[in-house]
Amino acid sequence: MTVVPTLTLKSGEKMPIIGLGTWQSKPGEVGQALKIALNNGYRHFDCAHVYMNQDEIGQVLEEAIAQGLVNREELFITSKIWNTFHSYEKAKEGVDIILQQLKLKYIDLLLIHSPMGYQEGEEMFPWTEDGSRMHFSDVDYLDTWKGLEEAVQAGKVKSIGLSNFNSQQIQRVIDHSHIQPAVLQVELHPYFQQTKLVNFCKEKGIEVTAYSPLGSMTAPFRKEGQANLLEDPVILEIAKHHNKSPAQVAIRWSIQRGLIVIPKSTNEHRIKENFDVFGFELSKDEMAKMAGIDRNWRIFDLAARNGDHKYFPYNDEF
Ligand SMILES: NC(=O)c1ccc[n+]([C@@H]2O[C@H](COP(=O)([O-])OP(=O)(O)OC[C@H]3O[C@@H](n4cnc5c(N)ncnc54)[C@H](OP(=O)(O)O)[C@@H]3O)[C@@H](O)[C@H]2O)c1
Repeated sequence: MTVVPTLTLKSGEKMPIIGLGTWQSKPGEVGQALKIALNNGYRHFDCAHVYMNQDEIGQVLEEAIAQGLVNREELFITSKIWNTFHSYEKAKEGVDIILQQLKLKYIDLLLIHSPMGYQEGEEMFPWTEDGSRMHFSDVDYLDTWKGLEEAVQAGKVKSIGLSNFNSQQIQRVIDHSHIQPAVLQVELHPYFQQTKLVNFCKEKGIEVTAYSPLGSMTAPFRKEGQANLLEDPVILEIAKHHNKSPAQVAIRWSIQRGLIVIPKSTNEHRIKENFDVFGFELSKDEMAKMAGIDRNWRIFDLAARNGDHKYFPYNDEF
């Protein structure tokens, strides 16, 4: 079975460079996807409280460990503190909910899902009455970070990091933290290459996880008729040359940029395909061609929903 290379994080923990994404993997399907992935060598799973499927993931992990299919130490489980859990007390509560849902004693990597807090309460998505945007909270994400640091000290989390933060927000966390962020998870694919942000993180010793590495094929953020990078002529040509699929080329490209990559699938064939990316290499020339197809196109453009949030991350250059 393929042994996936790892990157060593600031925390000293080792993170497998490929994992299975689980956003939009429906309850009733996600467990089966996880079983297929585990049986085919995946050990890293990207989860989040807001994906509403962690109970089923926890069930499968518990069974896999009990059956001796994997040891807990071989697994690398990421989860994320949702926007309605940003105050210090709520963040700590969020950690406990995640541990309970995933049926784990510790999480390998816990991220703040977004710098933007939403009104705290029962609703994960507290839409305004006219449905135009969220009710915000102006809780400072540094308070959330303190909650995460405490979870590390309590042994509930091994490494902590950020998601959807811009470079200035990351710097602010670095400047005010006891434990430095180990990982940044952001949208990143051949049409949105994020070169400046990746360079910034690498300089700071922060590893970068590429989410939506295939260009995230479904609504709500992707609009009908928008370009599909899996049909890009440059990617198709490279795929043909290596006798690989366009998705495998996109994933391989991320890996060769030194990134961690978390493609989502619930389809057996595609789960296997996305993991079969270690037997070929893109040449220097092919990597240069891939660099040339960047469109600086962010699919997760949250401006309509969150654009006037105090901590909206996408107004700054990167
Ligand atoms: N931190 C954040 O805010 C954030 C935001 C977005 C995503 N994420 C994480 O990143 C993961 C991946 O991102 P994503 O789910 O947005 O998109 P993605 O992985 O880029 O694309 C997933 C889509 O591509 C399809 N697909 C998978 N493998 C394929 C292949 N080999 N060929 C053709 N199509 C393929 C999937 O359908 P099938 O399932 O039918 O195969 C699904 O529709 C998420 O699941 C989540 O864990 C994090």
